[in-house]
Amino acid sequence: MKIKNLFPKVFWLTLVCITIMVVTIFKLSPSLARSTSTPPVELSAARVTIAHNSAGSSLYKRLGGYNAIAAVIDDSAKNIFADPLIGKYFIGLSTNSKQRLRELLIAQFCQAAGGPCIYTGRTMKLSHSGIGRGLTNGEFYAFVNDIALALDKNGVKQPEKNQVLGFANSLRDQIVEKP
Ligand code: HEM
Repeated sequence: MKIKNLFPKVFWLTLVCITIMVVTIFKLSPSLARSTSTPPVELSAARVTIAHNSAGSSLYKRLGGYNAIAAVIDDSAKNIFADPLIGKYFIGLSTNSKQRLRELLIAQFCQAAGGPCIYTGRTMKLSHSGIGRGLTNGEFYAFVNDIALALDKNGVKQPEKNQVLGFANSLRDQIVEKP
């Protein structure tokens, strides 16, 4: 058989192969995309619902949104790091660990307030068990009080302040090891 006669057959065979490859890749791509995406993270008690008041306005909106929450967390962190009772636990953290903690706290409170954030950190039990000799009630309330002072500094009104502190207090059982 002459090579010239073979050409159309090779051409069509190649075309069929390419079509099959393209169809297979398209069929596979959604499952590929799924297998490379981030696995679901275990959320902490930040799921506690404190989001809406009776008028249906989310706590997130009433607090003033993301930047307002970030400002409260920044002031809370300043208070916590300088706190005579609990500041010692944060002394050894690198700058990056402090930044990470800040981002996680913002996401945690933003999500709990019904905002468009997703907390991707560890559970409260996992990230706090074994700190010092086990965190005490007194240390926990010092932390919450530092948040309360930051809420006051940022002019957060009493109903919203109560809701934010209610959320913080709801985490106590997971954080305190020596009541
Ligand atoms: C309402 C109270 C509290 C909240 C909402 C809270 C929240 C958090 C969050 C979101 C993280 C990051 C979790 C992660 O690394 O994946 C964290 C870590 C940590 N928290 Fe708390 N916390 C609270 C109370 C406390 C108290 C009372 C102490 C100590 C006195 C404390 C000390 C720490 C330390 C040392 C870390 C680890 C930082 C690191 O590993 O880089 N926390 N906390």
